[in-house]
Amino acid sequence: MAHPPAVAPTVIAHRGASGYRPEHTLAAYRLAIAQGADMIEPDLVCTADGVLVARHENELGRTTDIGARPEFADRRTTKSVDGEQVTGWFSEDLTFAELRTVRAVERLPELRPGGTVYDGRFPVPSLDEVLDLARISSHRLGRTIGVYIEAKSPEHFRSVGLPLEQRLVDRLDAHGHRTAEDPVVLQSFAHDSLRELAALTALRLTVLLDDIPADDALSTPAALRELAAWVWAVGPSKDRVLPRRADGSLDAPSAFVADAHAADLAVHVWTFRAESPFLPVGLDAAEELLAFADAGIDGLFTDQPDLAVAALRELRRAAA
Ligand code: G3P
Ligand code: CA
Repeated sequence: MAHPPAVAPTVIAHRGASGYRPEHTLAAYRLAIAQGADMIEPDLVCTADGVLVARHENELGRTTDIGARPEFADRRTTKSVDGEQVTGWFSEDLTFAELRTVRAVERLPELRPGGTVYDGRFPVPSLDEVLDLARISSHRLGRTIGVYIEAKSPEHFRSVGLPLEQRLVDRLDAHGHRTAEDPVVLQSFAHDSLRELAALTALRLTVLLDDIPADDALSTPAALRELAAWVWAVGPSKDRVLPRRADGSLDAPSAFVADAHAADLAVHVWTFRAESPFLPVGLDAAEELLAFADAGIDGLFTDQPDLAVAALRELRRAAA
């Protein structure tokens, strides 16, 4: 499948402008759009009554105020999710109406005190609301705002009787998103789930590759050629593209981007975060972004879309 030349990486707002607002809220997505992001990224989980909502994980205690709500105290439980024991409050144990009564909070309060200013203000949005926001914003701004969707923990949701794939495709179809020309991309680390989506829709697909040995076998030139038969892009961790030396500085580019492009795959890298603990030694956020742009990537997930748009301004002007 063809992809554009890598002159100006697509800026994908990771969980919205999550460096500035509690993640996965309409406020975070709206700010990302105002900052110039090309696409917004909702991760999705499911409620007990089958509504897809924007959260990074089905456990809600980390990013909402549900732990302070006495009416939900009896829902706190421990269960196995994706092979890990997790204690908290789970999306599949609340109806959408119940979930709507809780409010988002900042995931990283020490690192992002600015985000905590908005704690308790915004509800958890449904996928429908995110798609509506992208459509209305596109119309208002005269530019297309894409939606880059990741359905989380598909095996877990299948195990509790709430399979995600058909549900997701049905909602997207209801919004008119069903072809490779539509401004929606589906991404997943769970390759079986992505295979199922491939059988259900012609929307573009991205295989995510973690920085773990298990995904090394999927990063070889031969494996990338096989992926290209059914996906549009690969989404590697940053380290797969520009590894870090032992001292934390960026090393020379790996062969990953060249190999992926040779297989005709776009390369969308995650995740760019501007705070010091996430940055390579010796570089600020803009310098890191430009180093990856120089390495030829086609898109990037970032918590601070404004910084990416600013750092890549000249490249984006040249590509316009
Ligand atoms: O989907 C790209 C990137 O978001 C993957 O990491 O854990 O933030 O969903 P995560
Ligand atoms: Ca994601």
